[in-house]
Amino acid sequence: MSSSIEGRRIVLGVTGGIAAYKAIEVCRRLVDAGAHVIPVMTDDATRFVGEVTFSALASEPVQKSLWSEADPIPHTHLGKTADLILVAPATARFLGCYAAGISDGLLTATVLATRAPVIVCPAMHTEMWEHAAVQENLATLARRGVIVVPPAEGRLAGGDAGLGRLADPAEIVAAAVAVLEGRGYQVPSGRLRDFDGRRVLVSAGGTREPIDPVRFISNRSSGKQGHALARAAADRGADVILVTTTNRPAPPGAKVVRVDTAASMEEAMLEHAANADVVIMAAAVADFRPKVPAEAKLSKADGLPDILLEPTPDILRELGRRRPVGQVLVGFAAETGDAVERAAAKLTAKGVDLMVANDVSAAGVGFDHDTNAVTILGADGGRRQVELSSKRQVADAVLDSVAGLLD
Ligand code: CTP
Repeated sequence: MSSSIEGRRIVLGVTGGIAAYKAIEVCRRLVDAGAHVIPVMTDDATRFVGEVTFSALASEPVQKSLWSEADPIPHTHLGKTADLILVAPATARFLGCYAAGISDGLLTATVLATRAPVIVCPAMHTEMWEHAAVQENLATLARRGVIVVPPAEGRLAGGDAGLGRLADPAEIVAAAVAVLEGRGYQVPSGRLRDFDGRRVLVSAGGTREPIDPVRFISNRSSGKQGHALARAAADRGADVILVTTTNRPAPPGAKVVRVDTAASMEEAMLEHAANADVVIMAAAVADFRPKVPAEAKLSKADGLPDILLEPTPDILRELGRRRPVGQVLVGFAAETGDAVERAAAKLTAKGVDLMVANDVSAAGVGFDHDTNAVTILGADGGRRQVELSSKRQVADAVLDSVAGLLD
């Protein structure tokens, strides 16, 4: 690990919370890994930990004030020369100032005066963490590209227990390394609550169109990506309804509606979409179905069956037609070759906000794999590529794009 952050300049911001003592460990680990750590403390932080501790462990003495005699403009100097700014712990007050663009001291001025990546690691009591003001500030910051290492569950100051405790120092340092290496930081499942109170409807799996009571037309969809989406949305605080053709276990916290055919999926989706903030059609809907399924099992003895096909309803297109104002609609396009171009055409034709394209002929991608690689296309022309990663990671990336549109 040491080589990748050797010599990189990290401004370590420490704000006034009890978890400030854990920032000592973060500082020590970064310095051990070879980083050049510049500690910046708020006055309140020094009530919890003495600045001498950080000055002794870091690469430079603590800076606290905008009004330093040695450097008349310390915030721009810090902001310009930093490779990364890491704020741990970040209090509700710090996050509020940062989101509102208020510089009330050296640290807030520095994060506003930088183009370097900024990681914030909130820590506070559960009630504060769950307050809409804090969550909205975090969503604003995340939308602007600030990386959030969310708090963990555990014992809090005063003997309470709950969500709000500073993430583990090892995890914070790993996030810093990932960002400095350009890999980006993946929020651990269930730690970001940016879909609190949102109603998310997801479809998953391939539909089955009966030929007779025992046979059907279907496709290779496993439903794994749709289930991963439902799980990720529930973990991130959403009220989730999952309409699925598979018998995979229900993701914790999600309501599951089991369906079978395109017609039954359409009925369930149209019913629940009317009240949803987000609708994601991850299902692989069969395009054709036998017009009149046989009532009794077909037998070889009757000769080759003459199966007349008809198109199934295009559920996504219908959802696009009916969608309420403000609803975010997402489609998937599994293609073999020219995935992005084909998906772009479907995005327009079906009237969706986002189309998630994957080339299922590539190794490790799509049907029945645990991994996927996609391009997320936006109706605004935006394109985001997600390299081969777990379906959960792809789900989180899709939800990140959706979160940007919800606001
Ligand atoms: N879809 C749908 N209803 C259908 C077919 C597809 O809702 N009858 C949705 C899928 O769930 C997916 C998107 O439309 O989100 C694109 O599906 P895809 O099968 O790639 O597109 P098709 O419309 O079937 O186009 P084509 O057959 O030309 O590939």
